[in-house]
Amino acid sequence: MKTTAAITGVQGYLPDHILSNEDLSKIVDTSDEWITTRTGIKERRIMKDGASSDMGEHAVRGLLEKTGTSAEEIDLVIVATVTPDYPFPSTANVICDKVGMKNAWGYDLIAACSGFIYGLATGAQFIETGRYKKVIVVGVDKMSSIIDYQDRTTCVIFGDGCGAVMLEPDTEGFGLQDFMLHSDGSGRQYLLQKAGGSAKPASIETVEAREHYVHQEGKQVFKFAVTNMADVSAAIMDKNNLTSDDVDWLVPHQANLRIIDATANRMGLSKEKVMINIQKYGNTTAGTLPLCLWDYEKQLKKGDNIILSAFGGGFTWGAVYLKWAYN
Ligand code: UT7
Repeated sequence: MKTTAAITGVQGYLPDHILSNEDLSKIVDTSDEWITTRTGIKERRIMKDGASSDMGEHAVRGLLEKTGTSAEEIDLVIVATVTPDYPFPSTANVICDKVGMKNAWGYDLIAACSGFIYGLATGAQFIETGRYKKVIVVGVDKMSSIIDYQDRTTCVIFGDGCGAVMLEPDTEGFGLQDFMLHSDGSGRQYLLQKAGGSAKPASIETVEAREHYVHQEGKQVFKFAVTNMADVSAAIMDKNNLTSDDVDWLVPHQANLRIIDATANRMGLSKEKVMINIQKYGNTTAGTLPLCLWDYEKQLKKGDNIILSAFGGGFTWGAVYLKWAYN
């Protein structure tokens, strides 16, 4: 049987500090009622001290311990993030150093909220070809470092968090079965960080214009997200001849409960099959999917058919179909 890339462990990390809807209503003109009904979010975590690599370090250390792996055994680390520690060097580099993964190399991958599925698909290639035995894919974002807490349309949605998975070869048919990934750069104007890159380097003007914060045109993004996430999730089912009965779990990006519901409906899935933790963490960008897997890990059974799907800035979107590899 051909070699597939299986997830053999998952670990999350969330900062301790909780920012509730109530807390936010004291900072901006909003209410628990508005946030709950429009998004499904009740609270989110905020990292007070430290960077994305610190969350990554916690998650990866936990993952190594849990899977009985030594740091030196890791071949490759892919870090999906839009909030790297620095423009360069990569956060993957920093995490490898902090954890002591001396034999690994790594890189950061920018695909916003689709970062984790892009990373999963990419990391799996190194396993499927037989080149590597142990690849770690991290999804991490310290969104609080780029969120404007004077902008009620974005600050209520995002939170900080990290999740990491181990990918290893499998020859029994478990693990990653298929993926469908997309991007459309013409959507970049609706969700982006305008300044700080080569297009608009940091200056006093960009700081004063608050252009280092997330700019999102929520309604536009919502429209694209709802259609594309549902479409790609249905498409990957079709392509793999999966009916709604065959699918055990949907792991949707946690951006808005209404987008999650629309995706599940389109796939014909009942609520019990949908992983949801948006109420606790909000939108952690690249962190949402591995954090869902971590929260629901105990309920997963070997052989479960799982569809992960996401939509995010770029635009980027896609779905991954995998068979869970352990009990
Ligand atoms: O993860 C990456 C991809 N991102 C997404 O998928 C996010 C997609 N977008 C969304 O989830 C939604 O568009 C939001 C949650 C961001 C906004 O919800 P909405 O239902 O689209 O609201 P809206 O932008 O149409 O605003 C409706 C009203 C406006 O007031 P008026 O013009 O009707 O008077 C807003 O000013 O709600 C107002 N509003 C708020 N009110 C209280 C916007 N934000 C808030 C707020 N609290 N936090």
